[in-house]
Amino acid sequence: MANAADFQPVDLIIDTDPGADDVVALLMAMASRDELKLRAITTVAGNVRLDKTSRNARLAREWGGRQEVPVYAGAPRPLVRTPIYAENVHGAEGLPGVPVYEPAAPLAAGNAVDYLVETLGSAEPQSITIAMLGPQTNLALALIKAPEIVHGINQVVVMGGAHFNGGNITPVAEFNLFADPHAAQVVLDSGVRLVYVPLDVTHKVLTSEARLAQIAALGNRAGQLVHGILDEYVKADMLHYGLPGGPVHDASVIAWLLRPRLFSGREVHLSIDTREGPTFGQTIADWYGKTGLPSRVLWLQDGDAQGFFDLLSERLARLA
Ligand code: BDR
Ligand code: CA
Repeated sequence: MANAADFQPVDLIIDTDPGADDVVALLMAMASRDELKLRAITTVAGNVRLDKTSRNARLAREWGGRQEVPVYAGAPRPLVRTPIYAENVHGAEGLPGVPVYEPAAPLAAGNAVDYLVETLGSAEPQSITIAMLGPQTNLALALIKAPEIVHGINQVVVMGGAHFNGGNITPVAEFNLFADPHAAQVVLDSGVRLVYVPLDVTHKVLTSEARLAQIAALGNRAGQLVHGILDEYVKADMLHYGLPGGPVHDASVIAWLLRPRLFSGREVHLSIDTREGPTFGQTIADWYGKTGLPSRVLWLQDGDAQGFFDLLSERLARLA
């Protein structure tokens, strides 16, 4: 039986494109000092342009009170395709519902891709986890530059993809995969251990008035900020999908790292469609093993919504 002495914090890098739900995920992670050893935050263009995702990541770091965590800016555009953004969902600044301003602390010197190459390249074998909250461009570039760095990675936990749910940017594609499917393909082809947290699960872990009130009632700045962000952010999805509440996609990646038992899924064979056309960016999870191909990706499919919001509230309560 495992005991406290066996417990090892997750050695973690968060790659992200903040983004409303990215900021919630970052705050949740920064509040989890015992379980997550957060080495760095690396930023990528996605929900908005790179300068804004990098500014928002620094804002989240300030709000999380973790100035010692470096923020490295990475890729300003996808590997191959034309850049797309999601300002219609996250607002012009990429962060709805709260005042956005220039944070006190700057970016770290250097580039996120070089940081990944150096850090993963010199890490103990299979030691570092990457929480992948946006397009996978930074890690793909690092793997192209130095394929051997895959050995330093324990697992990559991706918010992205959709199989049973259908897409949120095209009928079949989820935003992060549609924004850079070629990068996702490079990461998949590297053979790294992958966990996918797709829309199939995030569209079941929804806010409600009671859950938002639970966060507001924390009474601290972090609770006020997350309440403000989510209250605004969920409106578009609720309206568009006719959902009773809105998803907080990226925060489920952090929740899975902290409490995997809140989620369930299956090892599947995963295909990513990178062909131009109506299925561009689609993820196909072979849930029933029809292809006979090796099942190497853990694909989450269900989650405990109240358990998630209880965990989020508990973590936010630890912040200022
Ligand atoms: C994903 O796309 C982005 O808009 C969100 O931040 C999340 O990472 C959801 O499809
Ligand atoms: Ca994101």
